[in-house]
Amino acid sequence: MLSPDFIRDKVQTIIQLPALPAIAEEVVEMVENPKVSASMIGKVISTDQGLTTKVLKIANSAFYGFPKKISTVDFAIIVLGFDALREIVVSISLVSALQKKSDATFDVKKFWDHAIFSGVIARRLARDLGYRVSGEVFVGALLHDMGISILHQYFNTEYRKIIELVQDPNITWRQAEESVLGVTHAEIGGWLAERWNFPPTLVEAVAKHHTPLDAVENPELVSLIHCADVLAVRLSDDPAEFDREAEFNPDVLQRLQLDDPMLMEGYMTTYRNILQSDMRQFESMFTNAKV
Ligand SMILES: [Fe+2]
Ligand SMILES: [Fe+2]
Repeated sequence: MLSPDFIRDKVQTIIQLPALPAIAEEVVEMVENPKVSASMIGKVISTDQGLTTKVLKIANSAFYGFPKKISTVDFAIIVLGFDALREIVVSISLVSALQKKSDATFDVKKFWDHAIFSGVIARRLARDLGYRVSGEVFVGALLHDMGISILHQYFNTEYRKIIELVQDPNITWRQAEESVLGVTHAEIGGWLAERWNFPPTLVEAVAKHHTPLDAVENPELVSLIHCADVLAVRLSDDPAEFDREAEFNPDVLQRLQLDDPMLMEGYMTTYRNILQSDMRQFESMFTNAKV
């Protein structure tokens, strides 16, 4: 069995590991800095023609619902805001860094459907609950299962062993991961987020998405992502195997100051159609943004 330390070292040092493009890191940092203006960020994005085109396509999609045509990055930032810009730039970069071909054991479409669905749900939940930084929630939810993609690509022998083990209906995905690796995809994803220099709150959100009560950096963010993940699985007709049995920890509701345990059920019923249509719009936006 590989040791968790070995896996951590490997995740943080393999050269071929997907790198987040430097420009995306730069934009994420600039958005955090209160002294940075829209036109300063616009200038950085404009140095990359491919990124500029994609940002404009997404900014003009139905998902953001702006009635007039947005033809410059500066204008996109002004009308959509820094938060939306950050979610657009990071999403584009992640999709291009992690997207790989499907094979018999990994369904790329299902993987991204789950990531995007979790992102749009987390975003809406955050807004409804008055959480301040919805861009951060979106990025965290979009990223939360990237450990699975890393496992499939860089620890393929172990990944196949996990798939083999879960054929036994008495073994859950998490148990299989723990017996083969000694860690789970959540921790592995957290190590990648560290390698990408993501802020500690986002690293934690990825690493603790299945154990939200262990969060210390930002329990509210982790709780939101945990809820969005479980909702995305439950609202999906054919959820990805790795999260199919993901358990909902109802104690997170307390952390979000939602005392009524029936609230999640109600939320699912009320929002099912809205969330599914958000998801379709977001998905088509990505398909259209591939240039
Ligand atoms: Fe997960
Ligand atoms: Fe998930």
